[in-house]
Amino acid sequence: MKHNPSKADVRIWDLPTRLFHWLFAASVIGAVVTVKVGGSWMDWHLPLGIAALVLLTFRLIWGFTGSRYARFANFVRSPRQTLAYLRQAHQTDTPGHNPLGAWSVLALLLVVGIQAFTGLFTTDEILTQGPLNQFVSGDVSSVMSSIHKFNEKPLFILVGLHLVAIIVYAIKGKRLVPPMITGNKPTDSLPVNTPDARDDVGLRAWALVLIVILGSIGWWLVELGNSAGMSFN
Ligand code: HEM
Ligand code: HEM
Repeated sequence: MKHNPSKADVRIWDLPTRLFHWLFAASVIGAVVTVKVGGSWMDWHLPLGIAALVLLTFRLIWGFTGSRYARFANFVRSPRQTLAYLRQAHQTDTPGHNPLGAWSVLALLLVVGIQAFTGLFTTDEILTQGPLNQFVSGDVSSVMSSIHKFNEKPLFILVGLHLVAIIVYAIKGKRLVPPMITGNKPTDSLPVNTPDARDDVGLRAWALVLIVILGSIGWWLVELGNSAGMSFN
């Protein structure tokens, strides 16, 4: 059999990448639910949206400084290479994101990025405004508010496609969710001698430093939003 028999699993997703994913999904879903339920739940929309922005910034930096399969250089491929991959009769196993999945990762990050960034400048012109809305002109604020509103559709479509893709892979026998929880994929599902991703204390400590710095900036934005809200009343 074509696999390294010395161990059953290979570490693919380091702990910070896995925590990023589930917290990111929770904050994006939370931001959508709170805005849809409305009323006093809207108070949670801003912190959740800012949490999504903090996590996204973390992921961008992690794409250059994280472990092997979390790095953009490991999975981002040109359109030509992606087509070549898709044309293969039997697609080669990719330990991390495959070339098509990589495009969906980038698209999800981009569309959530646009949503969360414009949110900072958005206003409903009554009670709720993003923390940086107070610093921009009415024109900028209304453009940002429109983008924040109309970007909702692409966001829902991409998240929907993301979930459909995961279900389709599961039907075809490729279970992607367990590795995003445990970090591991079975050795015999991967090319021979696929190396483990680094996932040691040093790497995790670096992730912690990063998230504390970015989280502090997020916290400051939430406070700024609260004080802007108060002066509004
Ligand atoms: C992943 C992040 C986010 C998602 C998915 C999201 C989603 C949404 C959606 C769907 C709406 C309703 C738009 C409408 O139909 O009027 C909305 C409104 C709003 N969002 Fe966000 N948002 C996010 C981040 C943020 C952030 C970071 C802020 C500010 C810090 C923010 C501030 C606002 C405000 C003030 C409104 C009210 C605008 C209105 O009612 O027209 N959002 N958001
Ligand atoms: C709003 C919700 C969600 C967003 C914005 C989102 C976003 C993302 C992103 C950006 C990645 C790339 C991970 C990375 O390299 O850092 C990813 C991967 C993944 N997501 Fe989600 N996700 C969401 C919900 C979910 C849910 C609900 C599930 C499972 C039920 C899920 C399962 C996965 C899996 C299995 C992968 C790895 C795919 C692969 O192996 O290539 N996601 N997601």
